[in-house]
Amino acid sequence: MDLNFDLEDRYKAGLRKWDKYGPGFIPAWVAEHDFGCPPAVHERLSHVLSLGAFGYHDEDRKLGESFAFWADSRNSWKLNPERVIPTVTVLQGVAACVEAFSSVGDGILYNTPSYPPFLDLPSHAKRRSVEWPLIKSESGWHYDMDSLEKILKADRDIRILLLCNPHNPTGVVLKESELSQIVNLCHKYNLTLLSDEIHSDFIYKESSHIPTLTIDGADSVAVSLTSGAKSFALAGMRCAVAVPGNDILKKKLLEVPKFLLGGANRMGCVATIGAWETGHDWMDELIRTLDDRRLHLKSRLDGEIPEIKMFLPDSTFLAWIDLSEFNPGEKPAKWLREKTGVACGNGPDFGSGGENHVRLTFGTSANLLDEMIERIIKGLT
Ligand SMILES: Cc1ncc(COP(=O)(O)O)c(C=O)c1O
Repeated sequence: MDLNFDLEDRYKAGLRKWDKYGPGFIPAWVAEHDFGCPPAVHERLSHVLSLGAFGYHDEDRKLGESFAFWADSRNSWKLNPERVIPTVTVLQGVAACVEAFSSVGDGILYNTPSYPPFLDLPSHAKRRSVEWPLIKSESGWHYDMDSLEKILKADRDIRILLLCNPHNPTGVVLKESELSQIVNLCHKYNLTLLSDEIHSDFIYKESSHIPTLTIDGADSVAVSLTSGAKSFALAGMRCAVAVPGNDILKKKLLEVPKFLLGGANRMGCVATIGAWETGHDWMDELIRTLDDRRLHLKSRLDGEIPEIKMFLPDSTFLAWIDLSEFNPGEKPAKWLREKTGVACGNGPDFGSGGENHVRLTFGTSANLLDEMIERIIKGLT
């Protein structure tokens, strides 16, 4: 997939990714790729603009059908479109589920390192954070399946397991057997499983994504949440979906005050539906491109600066990079940015397991990725 963007234009586009540090820095800090979205999204948005029709709308009613079509075409997941609940963002859907499926003081379990907003969410909702740390071995990061039941046995007030699969920031993808074990434990210890699958369209050849709701028994304990925000770089469009596994969960989720679920933005619905209806081949091509970027980044870092450690991610366009050998201090991203001009995500912001790490977004042009690599090599050697 070609990406010949004009860097000056990018810095003027009003996107937080480029604005945060400005020209002079290469932005690799936010989980947003630079490949935009399929052409149909532009056409459909232009049509709404030409109508000047910006009032209240029912566009979100079409999200169910289009997400069901996408889920089936990507992962052979056959879901009931009637179950799909529109939300403004994935995070907002997660927050609404926390309200619906737990009470003040309950524990919310999540993996660390963690997508940073998950770290704050329990305390904002007057719940407790409980960590289920990933473990690191010679071969990469893993879910620690042995420790899960021990955690649940020791704390009987954990009511929610908040999964991020594929995992941000490590790119690890849960296997079917692991998901089955998780679902069984959710039944045994009376937990609701919130499955954030926002990165599930980015799966490289070694892996496959198993939607949580395709696992036996998941329908009565799980809610899946996703959007087109990562896949089609539509995060500013504010449109996402929550899919409760059955009607009981759906009813309970819809009992939260309406303002907690909000209403998806019309342009967001039009864009997301356009992408889900037309984006299959586009997405395949994007994955091939990102696969090249991922292998290129890994091979150049391994070959030219072996003090930097990086495992090849099975998913996402994010590299979780270990800088321990350089002792980068409390703020590894600032340390790296000042030495190289490459602005990465700061590992410690992802909680435990993030010490000495940075997260680098490699979803960009081949040229810009090479410039990042060169700046890192020059700045650190
Ligand atoms: C795992 C995960 N969930 C949710 C989000 C945010 O999605 P939204 O903007 O729809 O809340 C992100 C963004 O990076 C993410 O990585």
